[in-house]
Amino acid sequence: MPRPSSRISGIVPSGKDGWEVHSAAWARKEAGEDIIMLSVGDHDFDTPSQTIEACVTAVRGSNHHYTPLPGLPRLRKAMAAASSACTGVETTPDQVIATPGGQAALYAAVQAVLDQGDHAIVVAPYYATYPNTFSAAGASFTVVETPAEDGFQPRADMIRAALKPNTRAILINTPNNPTGAVYSRDRLEQLAEICREHDLWLLSDEVYWTLGSGEHVSPRSLPGMAERTLVINSMSKSHGMTGWRMGWLTGPQEMIALLTNLNLVTTYGLPAFISIACAEALENRYGVNDIAERYAARRTILLDAVRGMNNVSVRGSEGGMYVMLDITDVEPDDEKFAWAFLDKENVGVMPGSSFGEAAAGHIRISLCQPEPVLREAAARLRRFASTYRREAA
Ligand SMILES: Cc1ncc(COP(=O)(O)O)c(C=O)c1O
Repeated sequence: MPRPSSRISGIVPSGKDGWEVHSAAWARKEAGEDIIMLSVGDHDFDTPSQTIEACVTAVRGSNHHYTPLPGLPRLRKAMAAASSACTGVETTPDQVIATPGGQAALYAAVQAVLDQGDHAIVVAPYYATYPNTFSAAGASFTVVETPAEDGFQPRADMIRAALKPNTRAILINTPNNPTGAVYSRDRLEQLAEICREHDLWLLSDEVYWTLGSGEHVSPRSLPGMAERTLVINSMSKSHGMTGWRMGWLTGPQEMIALLTNLNLVTTYGLPAFISIACAEALENRYGVNDIAERYAARRTILLDAVRGMNNVSVRGSEGGMYVMLDITDVEPDDEKFAWAFLDKENVGVMPGSSFGEAAAGHIRISLCQPEPVLREAAARLRRFASTYRREAA
């Protein structure tokens, strides 16, 4: 074939991607072994039935045609109402644009604020696609870690130290994947100050906003921030709809109008019947409380089990779909730990170092399994941690 563009080849540079333990666990499960998969962030349950019925009704009702580029008016209205609730800022439909999932909202946000050669700061540990999303825009970035001993909260002094003359944006995610940290108001205020001082955009990934254990603070609500914040939202986690691919971006009306042109040349609008089902799900908050309660109960079960172990400590783990455990007292090399845990106990978890340096010495456990499975996984972890120590000794 003729040479592919350097743009497309540069999105995912080859090499290790951190998913090796997960892939091995998955292959063994597929081969029929009894493996507990705690490495992925997709629900173990179906989309709420009311949403499914809304979609069936919509598809039977001749909703088979193009939709407006920024989203159906009813959908944008419902998204704006959800953004008002999420960000605490009264939001109008012309301040939101529908995208096929949160990832596409993230892509749109990065494309919207960074030119080729511009620089961004990415607060880590972060969701796996972040670096590649910047590469796709030809932008460079500096990773600024959030110290584990600080509960994975962002540190303004560390972010300031990473600023460059061509820095245009900071990307954060709260509640956080992978750490489960929920950024405090105080730390967000310090971040907002940097953005105002240096005239930066803040890209705020809030796809887990309904799954936090305390108050959700959106930096968009802080003084002077609505004009410089783009909020990434999604129906994947809050509404149990990962496979439906529906998300949205909230920001200043002028930026949303510009982003409509991106939809013109990419999605050309979203599927009509899915848009209608999503509007109905947003209007009625189908599944939102159930899903939030389910994850809160699972988090409590796992954390209670782990808190009894004297060689494993909990960090972050206040929200989202994951729990982050410090396993350095058992084995400082988190990859070695994850491989051995899979080999000995048939449990697949993500080594923390897959998400950056700050999470090294940790494992990320997904809560996307029913409570009995999580209890069993915790029992296996307890056995593994104590046996591993004995063997090492
Ligand atoms: C932090 C974060 N942002 C964005 C996404 C993208 O989600 P989606 O594209 O399914 O909306 C995910 C998915 O796991 C995530 O964890």
